[in-house]
Amino acid sequence: MSLINPKEAVAQAYATGRAVGAFNVDSLDMQAGVIDGAIAGGSPIIIQVTSDTLDLWGWARFTGLLIKEAENAEVSVGLHLDHSTRLDDILKAIDLGFTSVMYDGSVLPVHENIKNTRTIVEMAHKHGVMVEAELGHVGRSGEPPDWEAVTTASEALEFFEATEVDSLAVAIGTRHGKLTHPDRVNFKALEEIKTLVTCPLVLHGASGVPDELLGKIIVLGISKVNIGTELRRIWWRSVDQARGAKTRLALHEASRAIARYVEHKIRVLSRA
Ligand code: 13P
Ligand code: ZN
Repeated sequence: MSLINPKEAVAQAYATGRAVGAFNVDSLDMQAGVIDGAIAGGSPIIIQVTSDTLDLWGWARFTGLLIKEAENAEVSVGLHLDHSTRLDDILKAIDLGFTSVMYDGSVLPVHENIKNTRTIVEMAHKHGVMVEAELGHVGRSGEPPDWEAVTTASEALEFFEATEVDSLAVAIGTRHGKLTHPDRVNFKALEEIKTLVTCPLVLHGASGVPDELLGKIIVLGISKVNIGTELRRIWWRSVDQARGAKTRLALHEASRAIARYVEHKIRVLSRA
């Protein structure tokens, strides 16, 4: 149990119709909650952070703390750089000890996305680091709605063969930062991708996707499920309720609430 490259855990999940939970954290109390939830649920976990979070806390400082906690955890923990659009950031993350990175070229023309992803795959693999890319585009609030683009199976196949990426984020109707309505999930697109492409797939914007629906999605090749917004909602709700209490108690309770949620979610994803 320690810091791992999550490639094998994701591949194993893919082979058995399960998924690894990947949770976005902004602070150490959030990370502690995610790890405690993973220990209770008995499954490997991926902790992920964005460049924005690292810019705020300081890359070396925050990564050092995340790695130390992961190394001491009684569960396997992958450390993933989420949604990076910059080669420099990916190099920095690999240098600092991240075991997995995402290159997000999803708003670029496909041939550019392929070219950049291929460069990063070659470089990251030399360091034993897993690479995720995105094809199609999972939208987020604040973006023009026409950026959203569903992933097609034929493009996904071409992308996978050209890049040899380890996992592929696909756009099948979820959105970042919103609780996704079940009707939005495009099962037809997912089934077509699963039929054609033998690559573990990643679901972004999974906050609010009901458990039953997640169960149906993960048997169709989605083997990493990204959740961020839901953790932040739980954190804020808990801290708001503890207003006026000692800070240490408020943060500890928020961390416990996150742990309970993560434990439940990874049981759903591992079909335990
Ligand atoms: P949500 O914040 O919508 O859960 O999405 C998380 C995510 O996709 C992180 O990459
Ligand atoms: Zn995402």
